[in-house]
Amino acid sequence: MTTGFRDFRVAQKVTESDIITSFYLEPVDGAPVWEARPGQYLTVRVPTADGHLLKSYSVSGDAAQTSGYRITVKRETGLDGAPDGVGSCWLHDVVQVGDEIAVAAPRGTFYLDEESTRPVILLSGGVGLTPMVSMLHRLRETDRDVYFLHACEGGSVHALRDEVLGLATARTKTLFVYRSPSAEDEAAQAFDAKGFIDKAFLQRHLPLDDYEVYLCGPTLFMVAMYHLLQKLGIPKSRIAYEFFGKGGSLDKVEEPTRSKTAASRAAPAIQALTFVTDPDAWASADETPRPVKATFDAVPDTPEITAKGDVVFRKSDASATWGDGVSSLLELAENAGIDPEFSCRTGICGACECRLISGEVEYTQAPLEEPEDGHVLICCTRPKGPVVLDI
Ligand SMILES: Cc1cc2nc3c(=O)[nH]c(=O)nc-3n(C[C@H](O)[C@H](O)[C@H](O)COP(=O)(O)OP(=O)(O)OC[C@H]3O[C@@H](n4cnc5c(N)ncnc54)[C@H](O)[C@@H]3O)c2cc1C
Ligand code: FES
Repeated sequence: MTTGFRDFRVAQKVTESDIITSFYLEPVDGAPVWEARPGQYLTVRVPTADGHLLKSYSVSGDAAQTSGYRITVKRETGLDGAPDGVGSCWLHDVVQVGDEIAVAAPRGTFYLDEESTRPVILLSGGVGLTPMVSMLHRLRETDRDVYFLHACEGGSVHALRDEVLGLATARTKTLFVYRSPSAEDEAAQAFDAKGFIDKAFLQRHLPLDDYEVYLCGPTLFMVAMYHLLQKLGIPKSRIAYEFFGKGGSLDKVEEPTRSKTAASRAAPAIQALTFVTDPDAWASADETPRPVKATFDAVPDTPEITAKGDVVFRKSDASATWGDGVSSLLELAENAGIDPEFSCRTGICGACECRLISGEVEYTQAPLEEPEDGHVLICCTRPKGPVVLDI
């Protein structure tokens, strides 16, 4: 993976919906862009009065393009007097065609498993469709069955709708679910169902099969879908997901209560039925389901974890032993009942920085910007032996 920033010129700004705009970015140096996998994101440096902030945006176009990238950004307007979102509003309101912005190389483990031949469900809510559109560009070159399911408020905020329909092949099924369609949406029959995606809706539209799923959207949407998909027989290991906000594990969040406005309009008895997937298909293909490469909390693609040792969290007066299945010191701390600061969980934002009192660590993923001497980013490090941290 390449690190560091390059300058990109905004070649085009395209309004995709009332609140979402795409930015076409071309490298100022004219060289090919860094390689991106469909689903990965770029990090943009946002200037502020006292320095800069780093904000991540998924590549929303064809990741195979070497001349530039496209990102597609929702304007985060402050509600009830709250300030507007800093990064998204800078992009929407300040950045103009011809301006140059600093962008770091594509990152992230949420990307399409291109070796798989399984049918794919791309399931998104709101602006969470951006990585899915990038994946759809790649998937149309394959003979895999694709189910592109997108939920949003209505047509006025539905971005990239025509592009998705244009990318669909005979093997692609698109399903748009609007929570509150307008009269124009109704007249144009712009959506396939009204309300929230529920079990009966998925059962009706997804034939029995051996799916892998890519999931992205608002946290509540992701939690609901994550639990729903498992109730329908899809194992966790086949559900890859990406948070657009503060990252974490969906396993640690409780399922929300059922919505009253189900997209299926099915009777509760029908909604209670299970299995869109064929349980036998999971067992027969390979006994142990192979994890989708991109699960957010997967152990990074480094070989075996060799370092084992005691990790002391000094301020919390706690300790834990490093072991298999733990992906970072941050996760180890959380497992020990500590609640350290974090945001991106991928070495970008610096929120998890803490002082290393003693011992040595190694990065599982290079941080975008090195922390100050004697400090580490615990979201992307593991111990090389006994370690004492100042948290
Ligand atoms: C891997 C990844 C990929 C992403 N991809 C995309 C993408 O493709 N497209 C996209 O649009 N976004 C994407 N995001 C989200 C994006 O990175 C930003 O988080 C998003 O644009 C909001 O940042 P901001 O600086 O505009 O808002 P922030 O300044 O961070 O504010 C966030 C929200 O908080 C509100 N707020 C601010 N202050 C207060 C306060 N005092 N009280 C109450 N509310 C307050 C703001 O109004 C805003 O709604 C992605 C994030 C990640 C981690
Ligand atoms: S949580 Fe963002 S760098 Fe660690």
